[in-house]
Amino acid sequence: MLADYANKHGAPTNRPYFSLDGRTHLTAMKWERMRAKWNHVHGVTNVWQEPAVRGKERIVRKGMKSLHANQKPLKLMERIIGASTDPGDVVWEPFGGLCSATVASLMTGRQCYASELIPEYFDVASQRINEIYQELPLYERKKNS
Ligand SMILES: C[S@@+](CC[C@H](N)C(=O)[O-])C[C@H]1O[C@@H](n2cnc3c(N)ncnc32)[C@H](O)[C@@H]1O
Repeated sequence: MLADYANKHGAPTNRPYFSLDGRTHLTAMKWERMRAKWNHVHGVTNVWQEPAVRGKERIVRKGMKSLHANQKPLKLMERIIGASTDPGDVVWEPFGGLCSATVASLMTGRQCYASELIPEYFDVASQRINEIYQELPLYERKKNS
């Protein structure tokens, strides 16, 4: 059925094939670039557990235990980013909160973008990102400016 469909709507090769633009075949190189990355670390499985953020890392608000109930541990975010991206890759954190993934990305040499809807979180996240950014070597800063 796939071959029939391709014959009718694409290149009539009598074989099914994958295409990104509907005209040309997907090359092995293009296919490789689309695959999800997995950087294996010996002895580390794909089940990860980290306790909730506590101590100095936890960002607090006066009179409350925490500013953001869902602040993620940097150690966990670093592991996720390390497992699924390479240095220089772009990390997009669309639901930023306090932007822990963005902070971990900067700390591990990735480029990053984030967004956050709530101004109070946005302000604290911006400050957090800026502090890490200032600590980066100049060549890393240029990549992320
Ligand atoms: C689970 S929290 C993320 C916590 C973050 N991982 C951290 O470590 O701080 C999700 C965040 O997404 C934000 N959010 C929800 N909808 C959004 C949208 N459309 N655009 C940007 N941010 C949004 C919420 O305000 C909330 O702070």
